[in-house]
Amino acid sequence: MSSPDIELVNLSKNYGSTPIVRAIDLTVPQGEFVSILGPSGCGKTTTLNMIAGFTIPSSGHIKVRGLDQTGVPPEKRGVGLVFQNYALFPHMTVRQNVGFGLKMQGKSQHDIDEQVKKALHSVHLDGFEDRYPKELSGGQQQRTALARAIAPRPSLLLLDEPLSNLDLKLREAMRIELKDVQRELGITFVYVTHDQEEAMAMSDRIVVMHQGVIAQVGTPSELYSTPRSTFVADFIGKSNIFAVTPTKVEGGIHRVKISGTGLELLAASPEPDPAGIAFCSIRPEAARWIEGQSPADRPLNILPVSITKIVNLGAYLEVWCRHQSDTVLKSLISAARGAELRPGVDIELTIEPAAIKLLSS
Ligand SMILES: Nc1ncnc2c1ncn2[C@@H]1O[C@H](COP(=O)(O)OP(=O)(O)O)[C@@H](O)[C@H]1O
Ligand SMILES: [Mg+2]
Repeated sequence: MSSPDIELVNLSKNYGSTPIVRAIDLTVPQGEFVSILGPSGCGKTTTLNMIAGFTIPSSGHIKVRGLDQTGVPPEKRGVGLVFQNYALFPHMTVRQNVGFGLKMQGKSQHDIDEQVKKALHSVHLDGFEDRYPKELSGGQQQRTALARAIAPRPSLLLLDEPLSNLDLKLREAMRIELKDVQRELGITFVYVTHDQEEAMAMSDRIVVMHQGVIAQVGTPSELYSTPRSTFVADFIGKSNIFAVTPTKVEGGIHRVKISGTGLELLAASPEPDPAGIAFCSIRPEAARWIEGQSPADRPLNILPVSITKIVNLGAYLEVWCRHQSDTVLKSLISAARGAELRPGVDIELTIEPAAIKLLSS
């Protein structure tokens, strides 16, 4: 890890008396692909606009490559931008669109031509120089916008939901392309999205935002395996989430009772301390189906359940199971393995204590 490219220190934005971004701290090292992920309205665009210089913070500081950006106008920040509506100039060719910023910077025609060529090559648009935007597909237009943003060789690129206007197949293909471009150029990307799959697929780290605060920062796998709140457990992937009361702790194993149903489970999470335990989160794939005879040395947390519903997800089935306590758990079972399962069938589930995450909020 090299020196930080961006530092947000105690950064806040209010509109009138409404706090929109609340005292966030974040450090992004040079060359990292970081996503700001959260539901609509949580303050992602506001945060990005403060980094870009379009929105003045109410308090706190932004540093880019170690330099405080207070009072620095957007065009002096050396930051590239890509937005959802890519806003190419319709009367200009791809070459002119991509070269626009360079021309504004007063670059020589020779330099412009060279940098445009390189940028178009990076986004696989060689040979498209003389097309007009209306002669391009949506994906090609978005790649042109990306080329325009990277042509001046910024060390930092800010992207605000750049793929949300594209259809699903193209969006999935573009995720991979964007990540490849980022890796090849070694530019820091700050990528705003409300789409957790997109963030998971592309990011080195994800910043999960919720109501103007940072809920958790981590790698995609850290956030998936160790969510620190029910919000993150629910927003990243799927989870069975229950309110629980801890009843006993012994040798690092907590016995917790699910509120409303009274079902007791054993959880091996080392934290939080029993006093802070209010919820548990169980990933559907962690509620495993014990096929056939249950093993002689029975594991902990065996739940006899009855299947109430099966949602076919293609490769997997989401199997809704009801325990006699009336606790309903969703279990993820491969479609091949679960081909014979039907609503009304009784099965046994088991959950490893370590797969039950205990949470305070
Ligand atoms: N210029 C503004 N004036 C007043 N409220 C704003 C302004 N810009 C954004 N907001 C409010 O701030 C909140 C966060 O907006 P935004 O940062 O755009 O969210 P996101 O990008 O996460 O969807 C929203 O409730 C929005 O209505
Ligand atoms: Mg937004």
